[in-house]
Amino acid sequence: MKLTYKLAPSILAADFAKLGEELARLKTAGADYVHIDVMDGVFVPNISIGIPVVRSLRACSDMFFDVHLMIQDPARYIKRFAEAGASGITIHLEACSGVDAAIDEIVSLGVQPAICISPDTPYESVIPYLSRVRMVLVMSVYPGYGGQKLIESTLTKAAAIRRYAEDNNLELDIEMDGGIKIDNLDTVLDAGVNVIVAGTGVFKGDLYENTAAFYRKFRERG
Ligand code: DX5
Ligand code: ZN
Repeated sequence: MKLTYKLAPSILAADFAKLGEELARLKTAGADYVHIDVMDGVFVPNISIGIPVVRSLRACSDMFFDVHLMIQDPARYIKRFAEAGASGITIHLEACSGVDAAIDEIVSLGVQPAICISPDTPYESVIPYLSRVRMVLVMSVYPGYGGQKLIESTLTKAAAIRRYAEDNNLELDIEMDGGIKIDNLDTVLDAGVNVIVAGTGVFKGDLYENTAAFYRKFRERG
């Protein structure tokens, strides 16, 4: 199956004092998604962006908001993030007890559902849900902070999920998040990942040059 490659810059690495402008720059640069990291200080030790920020950003941007919920019991907040303007909502399997019901709710709100696994969660745990979600997010770092180093063993998990999807004729986006830079992008794409989250990889240095470098690599894959 032919893959469509997408870039999802994570605004965790943006300047929070001017997020609206940062989104405008991402749009000009041609980024596909805006990756929004929501952290609750419980599922992960850090605290980041919440519902009011997503709502304010939605008022100034028409881009696809790829909302990554790193929160315990994410079902409690699905409706509010959908109303605030999420285009896609990703829940962690480790944080959610009723995954099927959560997927149902995301779909019923007209939002694209995705499931996510942290580095220590085996790839097999996503399989029961693959026919119901459009995207699986494989974390390549422990969730909670930007700027970490990619954990190589997570590439094998992404490759196993891609193999399973192909064997079963499933149209599936596989997203990877954490420590992805131009230097290691080839190994990530080789694993069958087609949606790339990059925080520091996009925002550190020149955003336009960085974004263009990601898309050049995507084009090399055809
Ligand atoms: C980490 C977040 C990531 C983070 C990625 O918990 O989910 O989206 O912003 O940042 P980089 O690309 O800098 O590792
Ligand atoms: Zn993320």
